[in-house]
Amino acid sequence: MPAPEHITLTGPFGAGKTAVAAHVARLLGWTYVDADDLIVQSSGREVEDLFARDGEKAFREREAEVFAHLAPRQKVVVAAGGGAQVYAPTRRSIAEAGIVVCLKASAGTIAGRVAQPQARERPMLAAEDTYGRAQRLLDQRAAVYALADFTVDTDVLSPEEAAAEAVRLYRTWGERAFNRPGRIEQLARTPAVLPPILDAPGATTIVRTASGEYPAYVSWGALEGLGAIVKRSTGARRAFVVSDEAVLGRWGETAVSSLREAGLETATRALPPGDASKSLPQASEVYDWLAAHKAERRDAIVALGGGMVGDFAGFVAGTYVRGMPFVQAPTSLLAMVDASIGGKTAVNHAGAKNLVGLFYQPRAVVADVATLKTLPRRALVEGLGEVIKHAMIRDPELLALLEARIEDLLALEPELTTRVIARNVQIKGGVVSEDERETGGVRELLNYGHTLGHAFEAAGGYEALLHGEAVSAGMVAAAEIGRRVRATPAKVAERQRALLERAGLPLRPPPGIDRERVRAALALDKKIVAGGQRWVLLEDVGRAVVRSDVPPSVVEAVLDELLSG
Ligand SMILES: NC(=O)c1ccc[n+]([C@@H]2O[C@H](COP(=O)([O-])OP(=O)(O)OC[C@H]3O[C@@H](n4cnc5c(N)ncnc54)[C@H](O)[C@@H]3O)[C@@H](O)[C@H]2O)c1
Ligand SMILES: [Zn+2]
Repeated sequence: MPAPEHITLTGPFGAGKTAVAAHVARLLGWTYVDADDLIVQSSGREVEDLFARDGEKAFREREAEVFAHLAPRQKVVVAAGGGAQVYAPTRRSIAEAGIVVCLKASAGTIAGRVAQPQARERPMLAAEDTYGRAQRLLDQRAAVYALADFTVDTDVLSPEEAAAEAVRLYRTWGERAFNRPGRIEQLARTPAVLPPILDAPGATTIVRTASGEYPAYVSWGALEGLGAIVKRSTGARRAFVVSDEAVLGRWGETAVSSLREAGLETATRALPPGDASKSLPQASEVYDWLAAHKAERRDAIVALGGGMVGDFAGFVAGTYVRGMPFVQAPTSLLAMVDASIGGKTAVNHAGAKNLVGLFYQPRAVVADVATLKTLPRRALVEGLGEVIKHAMIRDPELLALLEARIEDLLALEPELTTRVIARNVQIKGGVVSEDERETGGVRELLNYGHTLGHAFEAAGGYEALLHGEAVSAGMVAAAEIGRRVRATPAKVAERQRALLERAGLPLRPPPGIDRERVRAALALDKKIVAGGQRWVLLEDVGRAVVRSDVPPSVVEAVLDELLSG
């Protein structure tokens, strides 16, 4: 049987599928189509928009319909979307319809081509670090791109040359390839390593880490959708809600009724509020509770509360039966914009904060902005410390928005508050996606204001200052250090100081903080790497750098100034 007059070009974005398809069609006297264009035409919406609003799963279903529709057409070259073969029905349609040619490209080639201004941004590549992202997508999808009759490496070929090569392979070997015994089964099979299709309609952002990808949802009233999200992201039938007494009393019912509505059996457990609950003895009690309920690996843990609950419940989820799926439902500003994203989990031990823990990512983050209505004022203000930090190190536009409307934010104006938190979740999620375990230097930038902040916090015995307050004073100190070593412009330091002050955050540690204890705590700082203290300093708004050449005398002078009553 001759091969059908139907060729599908597969491969990653940036391999030039559409351009090559046009040339192949010209050489063979056929027509060509871009499958993404057909999806856009039939839905009236852009690919990015479909992805963001309906989620990848819905997009893949729509895409599969387009391929099923195209399959019987003859004298046609189809340029497939980069992830089309991830979905089983599409893999089969493509294999059955005709010859499959994969256009290969290396991460470097893809990054170079995507960087060209006319390149339309792809949803799976939406991030600053295109090379790293391209490499990761290639790693994840190598097995599906291998599902082809022929492969053409495009790194050193122009689209015309790649097309000529594809046509040569088709004409010479197409018939033999198509009639290979077991061909359809081979090309349509499910590879052992298949990237998950994230079913996350309406997500604010997707956090991508080596150990998993997960959606974060931020909205006013998000808790009402908690059950559906827990079910979809964990597949669990039972949910164990871990909270603290203050939060459970106010928001437990909303969470639990949503979980029950989604058909999940639910049990709840509340810890006494306060960081003292983040302990191994408490963990041991919660393990007992889980054991009494015969909790299993296919059940889920839901962390409903501030950062204390999130860190604790994540630690328990990561260790019980060697890991249960868990979902973060943060209810404090600090937890929404910081603690719930990134997978750092821990308990305190032997007087040291977060001494025992693990990196363990949640399956989803559900941040209901409305829960902030019951958050004590001081905790709200504290969270603004991290919000302002994100703006200073990463986002001049966010800083301008905060400068314009910080009072409305303090009053929890719903639309503004949701927008600000969503942006912060994107910033933290973006940084974590680039540097999950704080080894690549990017995540370290989040420590802006934290070197001295942690020292002030410790010197106050973790009582005088809340974390966000200590970070506020730490940022003022870092800006002053930056000014003295000529890294930070005075204008930037001044904008930061003015905004922190309007937010109601402290600009220096309270009187009575002992200088020697600050110095002792500094010497203990985890971020000291082989002698030279590393300082995250601002060169401008949105531009943070790490400096290890700050003279100790400058630090001493700044401490003199800040601790002098
Ligand atoms: N994992 C991380 O990356 C990370 C980052 C920053 C901080 N943390 C951790 O987070 C913790 C601090 O976070 P936090 O400030 O959210 O602490 P928290 O959980 O102790 O919450 C602060 C207080 O607010 C109350 N509360 C929270 N939400 C409420 C609501 N909606 N209504 C009424 N009361 C509410 C709590 O009961 C508590 O008393 C610390 O344990 C810290 O180590 C972790
Ligand atoms: Zn912090």
